[in-house]
Amino acid sequence: MFEKRIKTHHSAMAEGKKYALGPRPVSQYLTSPEQDRGNGTIYIHVPFCPKICSFCNMRRSLQDAEPDYHRYVVKEIENYAKLPYIQSQTFDAVYFGGGTPTMLSDEAFREILQALFSNLSFTEDAEVTVETTVTELTEEKITVLGENHVNRFSVGVQTFNDEERIRMNRVGSGEKAYQKLKYLKDQGKFTLSMDLIYNYAGQTLDDLRRDLESIQELELDGFSMYSLIDMKGSRIDLSQDLRSDEMMFREIAETMEAAGYSFLELTKMVKGDQYRYIMNRHRAADTLPLGAGAGGSVNHLMMMNEINLDKYRESVEHFDTRKGMLFRPEYDEITRFKGDIQTLFLPGNETLYRDQQKYQRYRQQLMDEGYVKFCNDKYKLTDKGVFWGNTISRELSDMI
Ligand SMILES: C[S@@+](CC[C@H](N)C(=O)[O-])C[C@H]1O[C@@H](n2cnc3c(N)ncnc32)[C@H](O)[C@@H]1O
Ligand code: SF4
Repeated sequence: MFEKRIKTHHSAMAEGKKYALGPRPVSQYLTSPEQDRGNGTIYIHVPFCPKICSFCNMRRSLQDAEPDYHRYVVKEIENYAKLPYIQSQTFDAVYFGGGTPTMLSDEAFREILQALFSNLSFTEDAEVTVETTVTELTEEKITVLGENHVNRFSVGVQTFNDEERIRMNRVGSGEKAYQKLKYLKDQGKFTLSMDLIYNYAGQTLDDLRRDLESIQELELDGFSMYSLIDMKGSRIDLSQDLRSDEMMFREIAETMEAAGYSFLELTKMVKGDQYRYIMNRHRAADTLPLGAGAGGSVNHLMMMNEINLDKYRESVEHFDTRKGMLFRPEYDEITRFKGDIQTLFLPGNETLYRDQQKYQRYRQQLMDEGYVKFCNDKYKLTDKGVFWGNTISRELSDMI
């Protein structure tokens, strides 16, 4: 049924243009209290990396964290905290992403986290995640973060295989990565997830099995699984073909299901990890974006922070001139449509399709060919459907 596997999450933006109402000044728009949007989330982008990995083209640059970066993030928090909408809002999850957020010093983290929790309101058990590489996450840093509300780590291990770590330009050995995860686990107070890359050139099923064994031994609460994408702008072109991709995916799904893990998202398996940040985003919750290069939407106002550090600083200093793009509330339905597929279901809102009969024929074909099954009143992706999930997402999106 499919020829080319799309591997990445396709943002809702492409379908969003027709819902845009035009630019609005942020500080003039968020002036009434939040009423019916429910708990929000916060995304904090830290665009620095210690070393550039050969496969990666994320929004980051090779440099030490700017010594004053966190001051601007703190100022940004204080600016937002003056707006009635943000003042009245309750946040349920925070995610520090990158780049490599743990490039920030311990003091910088402490200041940002204290600014967050003293200026904004959170649910009692708010999830606070820091994305990190193993090497940047020192024992002192783990202590500081643990004392300042952080309760979840997403560690970018990629593989424990040393040869491959060198080719990927990863810092440190697989054994070091393993020991650091074990140390984190032994603290007993963090939800622990790691990123795994598979289907890179030269990888055998045995190599993959060893990585999966390590995840089980460490009793991680979850892991993200990324089939290597040959990115424009990354420095290696290293993935294997579709047959091997499918075989490796099946190996991961079957082995880890047998070990008690299940799919939470197309690229995430969990055993206990709720990953509330992403689940809220899939439900179109407000996401307050902080830091250079961060993006998010609050009360239908889409905001994309400048990635250029000078421009970002300028926009914090002159916060009153900041603008976002206002979207019609119906746009949430598009976000949820995409979110449903990312969380393994065919979208519940079937009224969005332009041609109902065409959609029903497509859905029937998905069922006939084993990509989808009907259970508990919902159309759920099978493991085969999960493998093709982003391709299905694209084809369904083309029908709305
Ligand atoms: C934003 S990156 C940051 C993670 C963190 N800086 C690190 O390197 O450990 C998040 C994840 O995206 C995945 N990723 C990055 N480039 C990729 C690629 N070309 N193909 C597949 N996955 C990729 C990696 O697993 C990475 O850990
Ligand atoms: S994988 Fe992580 S550390 Fe490596 S370049 Fe990308 S963001 Fe930076």
